[in-house]
Amino acid sequence: MTTPTESGPAALVGLLRADGLSIDPQWEAAFVAVPRHAFLPDVVWENDADGWLSPVGREDSRWRSWAYSDVPIVTQVDDGEPEGADGRGRLATSSASQPLMVLTMLEALEVYGGARVLEIGTATGFNAALLSERLGAEHVTTIEIDAALAEQGRANLHRVGFSPSTVVGDGTKGVAAGAPYDRVLATVAAKTVPYAWVEQTRPGGLIVAPWGNDYLGHRLLRLVVGADGTASGWVIGPAAFMWLRDQRSYRGTWRDHIDFDAPMTEATTTTDPRIAVAAEDSGVRFVVGFAVADLYAMSFTAKDGSGESTVWLYDARGSWAAVDFVPGAREYAMSHHGPRNLWAEVEHAVGAWEAAGRPDRERFGVTVTPTEQQVWLDEPDNVVA
Ligand SMILES: C[S@@+](CC[C@H](N)C(=O)[O-])C[C@H]1O[C@@H](n2cnc3c(N)ncnc32)[C@H](O)[C@@H]1O
Repeated sequence: MTTPTESGPAALVGLLRADGLSIDPQWEAAFVAVPRHAFLPDVVWENDADGWLSPVGREDSRWRSWAYSDVPIVTQVDDGEPEGADGRGRLATSSASQPLMVLTMLEALEVYGGARVLEIGTATGFNAALLSERLGAEHVTTIEIDAALAEQGRANLHRVGFSPSTVVGDGTKGVAAGAPYDRVLATVAAKTVPYAWVEQTRPGGLIVAPWGNDYLGHRLLRLVVGADGTASGWVIGPAAFMWLRDQRSYRGTWRDHIDFDAPMTEATTTTDPRIAVAAEDSGVRFVVGFAVADLYAMSFTAKDGSGESTVWLYDARGSWAAVDFVPGAREYAMSHHGPRNLWAEVEHAVGAWEAAGRPDRERFGVTVTPTEQQVWLDEPDNVVA
């Protein structure tokens, strides 16, 4: 379909293999056959040091070089209407995902000849093209919520010779018309896995989706759909993606959500507050992040060498808490404000993790039911949150 050049698809595959990665030969063939640059819009966006995004046009040599580098490329900002008076954008709202991530997710999907796949988040259409190349476009359905992007993605796919079923709509509802699918691949992150994805996948089928929340971070979830209408599985790695449009995070900084002059309720705690900012991939963070909704946490360490620090928690909806860590202390000063006592919620979740024997993150799995998401330890019957 395209002639591999030094900065073309074959070179990109070479880059992916550079770290000794062994690539499924059929996905390798698809990556070589589908030219990534043909899916990029004339203007892509680069992250500036000040947090804004600047346009980079096709005529800029970086445009082509990024197409065949292992980097994600922002293809839309602020839902298509850049917020900056200078034409710059504030929030990346669509992208061509990082090729290594695309490959990792496609491999995790464990497709086979004849498998019918639903992709959530068409964007440029590149991923749908890879699926079409491997499985045949008649087996691929892809849905995009943004009408302009959906049209661009459809046009890109057609230009390169693929005609999967392209749908404009809210992917959290799936695409019932094409169900049941053997595989659902989300290329946009979910804080709550929409049950429609489970409902529209046949028993034994797989769902691969970036998942998490602002406290937990982004994880790649791989769920197997059961005959009982639930889907269970494990986190299989990291996966930084933009959130589903209706599950986006708040805009702004923590200062927008904490009023330092507001009255606080004072108390003490015996739990070391630093546990709330434990390593992102730790077991305790997984349990806390799952059990305590809408949590944000950060820690400030004193610069005087005392080892003291303050952990701040907030939910961006009017509740926050602060706990002071002092080395050697048995009790720590805690204060909180708002309808929720966030520290009490965190402490409760930490207690559940401790009662379970302080397990590592790798031992936790996730089940999606018609009404909730559950976290379990070692096996789906052992629900802990
Ligand atoms: C990272 S991009 C997907 C990359 C794409 N698969 C590709 O190959 O270029 C995520 C896309 O998901 C879309 N999106 C966000 N929320 C959505 C929703 N509820 N339903 C469908 N698409 C959604 C965004 O508009 C964005 O275009």
